[in-house]
Amino acid sequence: MKITIVGAGGNVGSTVALTIAQRDFAQEVVAVDIEIKKDDKSFYPSKGRALDQWQTSPIFNFDTKVNGTINYEDTADSDICVITAGLPRRPGMSRDDLLSANMNIVKTVTEQLVKNSPDTIIIVVSNPLDLMTYVAWKTSGLPSSKVVGMAGILDTARYRAFLAEELNLSPKDIQALIMGGHGDSMVPLPRYTTVAGIPITHFIGKEKLDAIIERTKAGGGELVGLMGTSAWYAPGAAAAQMVEAIALDQNRIFPCAAYLDGEYGLKDLFVGVPVRLGKGGVKEIIEIDLNDDEKALLNVSAEHVRKGLEDLNRVG
Ligand code: NAI
Ligand code: 2OP
Repeated sequence: MKITIVGAGGNVGSTVALTIAQRDFAQEVVAVDIEIKKDDKSFYPSKGRALDQWQTSPIFNFDTKVNGTINYEDTADSDICVITAGLPRRPGMSRDDLLSANMNIVKTVTEQLVKNSPDTIIIVVSNPLDLMTYVAWKTSGLPSSKVVGMAGILDTARYRAFLAEELNLSPKDIQALIMGGHGDSMVPLPRYTTVAGIPITHFIGKEKLDAIIERTKAGGGELVGLMGTSAWYAPGAAAAQMVEAIALDQNRIFPCAAYLDGEYGLKDLFVGVPVRLGKGGVKEIIEIDLNDDEKALLNVSAEHVRKGLEDLNRVG
């Protein structure tokens, strides 16, 4: 099993690489990034981080070889590729500037990946997530089952962690589901939130639950406020969990950004829904029963993604 991570000189990509290596199920992790020129010197963050990570192998006890590179030829015949390459928003940059910059990065990266691994599966992490997953799918020419975006596992993990803290319970026992786009319009579903099979409403009142839902929706922003850049440990762990589910054909059910072709009444967009992940990528989109309020929230979120796709067409 060969797994490529692009953007692996950065925070999320390097966390995905190290998490996969520590799980020790792959033969090789190829860590790709670009050459950085600074003060007449060249730096190779993917090579540096990969070397550093490989040197943890005797301590963490793994065999997975982590190889850093700037050449896509080294990624040839990858089973799974994860795209974390992208720019954060910088002062003076409009949303359209960011959209167009990341769209170009994701397009170029995807072209290189499928050129060297025509049958690969692609997991997208770069933001804006639902739109960048669409770009990777369109560019790749792969079937939609082989292109999937990471956001729902992260958003749901934040929600589960907040609930565990509030209730003084183990996060392991809290199961939950968040659907919709990766943004303020995400749709946490209290009706599908349980603690060891017991509905969450047995443990918490509406007011406190609503406050946790609002904190979850703003979870990414809370971390940007604390660190001055976006999060990487939970995002990296979430993407690695998707890689493992596919690599080991685990048939895990996770909320992921998947291509919808009529499911939930939505068509031709990627948005967060529960899917079965295993060999070959998205094996099934699971259509759960939503009540009218939940459907309305999902439609608002999908509309937000649809509007982003229109912006993408305009800048692209
Ligand atoms: P970062 O800046 O630490 O890393 C990004 C890396 O991409 C850098 O090392 C950069 O050199 C590399 N890169 C830029 N252009 C490239 C190209 N053409 N080819 C190869 N590599 C290239 O950023 P971080 O924190 O790792 O975030 C990465 C992306 O993931 C961002 O778009 C961020 O918004 C997104 N993200 C998404 C999450 C989600 O839930 N889907 C969660 C957290 C971050
Ligand atoms: C996050 O949710 C910024 O998408 C990133 O942390």
